[in-house]
Amino acid sequence: MKRTISVSDIRDRKGKDRIVMVTAYDATMTRIVDASDVDVILVGDSAGNVMAGMDNTLGMTMDYMVYHTQCVTRVKPRALVVADMPFLSYQTSVPDAVRNAGRLLQEGGAAAVKLEGGLRVIEQVKAIVRADIPVMGHLGLTPQSVHAFGGFKVQAKGAEAAKLLMENALALQDAGVFSLVLECVPAAVAREVTGALDVPTIGIGAGPSCDGQVLVIQDLLGMDKSFRPKFVKQFAGLFDVIKDALNAYASEVKQGTYPGEEHCFKD
Ligand code: KIV
Repeated sequence: MKRTISVSDIRDRKGKDRIVMVTAYDATMTRIVDASDVDVILVGDSAGNVMAGMDNTLGMTMDYMVYHTQCVTRVKPRALVVADMPFLSYQTSVPDAVRNAGRLLQEGGAAAVKLEGGLRVIEQVKAIVRADIPVMGHLGLTPQSVHAFGGFKVQAKGAEAAKLLMENALALQDAGVFSLVLECVPAAVAREVTGALDVPTIGIGAGPSCDGQVLVIQDLLGMDKSFRPKFVKQFAGLFDVIKDALNAYASEVKQGTYPGEEHCFKD
């Protein structure tokens, strides 16, 4: 029987094995991910972009996140499942944060939650951890703050901003996070933070020194030709693979060669 990866397995990887994390939002993709060497599945609120066609993640709600988390956990993956807390599910108050984090475990079946921000949500992080819900932090370019940032921009540039990032990272560690996502920060800053923390960092656009890496699965599989930020490496070109398969199907339907004899039921 396969053994599921736990939060403590991930925490214990620090300084030993790198952590591999990708997003997934549905059962079919989760089955493929779980047949690979991926350690952590993030049910990201990036579902708003890649599944729902939104411009940003702000339109994601708790009900959407519970739905996508259920789609992933029904597969019973070996990988650790972490579910994102969406915009306004934790910023509003400590009780909201605990209740909504609890929903992602109780209804969604996740093993942990991720939320964005450091010192400004530190009471929420402490309260969620006190409720025995493991928390992954997220600093740097936190997409729910897109309007406050004035766009999707690299964060923690310059000595003052880098110091602030470090303070926030240490505060999250003290509050009990088991790992920390660093998104779009200079590689040197991510290296400093990674070196200062006892918990693993997981980078996206944060260079090679992090203890692990995360990418949105559609990005790494090359499914969207219109979205190609600097930090994304496409490990496949599925847009063209899928398009070519669809054109082969269309051509056979038009020529009448599909369905063939072998696809027909006999009386
Ligand atoms: O929602 C998401 O996919 C994320 C990752 C990109 C870190 O938060």
